[in-house]
Amino acid sequence: MRELSHLIQSIPSSATVAIADKANALRAAGHNVIALAGGDPDFATAPHIVEAAIQAMHAGKTNYPAPSKGIMVAMEAIAEKVLADSGRTINPASDVIITPGGKWGLALALWSILNTGDEVLYLEPAWVSYVPLIRMAGGVPVAVGLDGADNFRITAEQLTAHITPRTKAIMVNSPSNPTGRVMTAAEAQAIAQVANEHDLFVISDELYEKLVFDGRQHISLMGLPGMDERTLTVNGLSKGYAMTGWRLGWLVGPTAVLKLAAKMHSQTLTSAAHFTMYAAVAALRGPQEQVAHMRDAYQARRDFIVPALNALPGIECPMIEGAFYVMPHFPHSSRNSVELAEALLEKAGVAGTPGLAFGPSAEKRVRFSIATALSDLEQAVERMAKIAEELVICHLSLVICHLPFAAPLLPCSPALPPHARCSHRPHLPLSGGHCPPHHLAGATIAPRGG
Ligand SMILES: Cc1ncc(COP(=O)(O)O)c(C=O)c1O
Repeated sequence: MRELSHLIQSIPSSATVAIADKANALRAAGHNVIALAGGDPDFATAPHIVEAAIQAMHAGKTNYPAPSKGIMVAMEAIAEKVLADSGRTINPASDVIITPGGKWGLALALWSILNTGDEVLYLEPAWVSYVPLIRMAGGVPVAVGLDGADNFRITAEQLTAHITPRTKAIMVNSPSNPTGRVMTAAEAQAIAQVANEHDLFVISDELYEKLVFDGRQHISLMGLPGMDERTLTVNGLSKGYAMTGWRLGWLVGPTAVLKLAAKMHSQTLTSAAHFTMYAAVAALRGPQEQVAHMRDAYQARRDFIVPALNALPGIECPMIEGAFYVMPHFPHSSRNSVELAEALLEKAGVAGTPGLAFGPSAEKRVRFSIATALSDLEQAVERMAKIAEELVICHLSLVICHLPFAAPLLPCSPALPPHARCSHRPHLPLSGGHCPPHHLAGATIAPRGG
């Protein structure tokens, strides 16, 4: 066989798919696995949306749509939504493309603006497909690593520090998969300020916009001053409307960019499925109660799982603000995130995605989807509780930390990594008063045998 594509060979396979495959293999072998690795809502699509698609099929909407980038009534419904969300009036005929899923909207946006070697800043931890999508479009992904200790806050300074003459765009995702952060007004201002100052495009992935908790407001970046001519907004029905299998999303942006995107779209996929576009109209213009109901259910699951995980030894789980993922941190474990996810799957039968899949700033974290029944989440936490101590600290440190008088007895060993602290009592240096100061701040004892 002749040589295959170097570019595609260099792209890693999806880590979320890999862990899902492993979980499925364990299931097929008779193991009881709770699958929390994927991102697929456990709700059914609302009946009025399903009905609209059935009616469209009966009405013969089974051929190519015209125009192929989307039927006018659906593009108008999207333009209405954009106006309501961002205050921007767009031309439905020229500024919208209906795509088979949000992912293709991201691909079209990148292909339309990038030339080989153009740099794209992305906020890391980032969804697993950003780096491959940027690279496949000829771009160079540049990670802007956000600090988990600072709740993955976005600042203008961090973004500016990564800008070079080749920087073309910033990719933003709020609510964020995997961190569950929802961009604040100050963060949105920071992104807009940097984009305006440096004349950058912004690709704003708003797939989880419907899933914001505690009364927060989703901010659509294209509504900020100076942003409508530089923002490519990617959205869709997959997450908020429980329609992942329908493959229905859209790209909205400046006419000149969308013209190129439409060319790319028609030369590759031709169109999204015709009858699904009628479902999109029903979803966007119809009753929104089910969307609110699903959001409330995710919030209730969050309200269970975040405190439950925080109650386990050595696990710190940040409160999430939106989307449907939690990403607990195992700061004192000597295992990396891949080893943690493997141990959780093999020893507890709980499938999560290793943080590393989202970038090095998510190391020592595992992402779990909460788009799963509460009873499954409860069972998952029970199972994790059984192995939590084994996962995060060594048996020796556990014994010692549980004895109030014993910590000072642990000899100061040069084998201890610097920064040793007990996971149960992080305020207490592992080696008590007997160690030199440089051994007293924050280390983990390497677990033995698991
Ligand atoms: C952050 C983010 N963007 C985009 C997508 C793609 O969504 P779709 O299924 O509509 O292609 C996903 C799917 O998981 C996602 O998590």
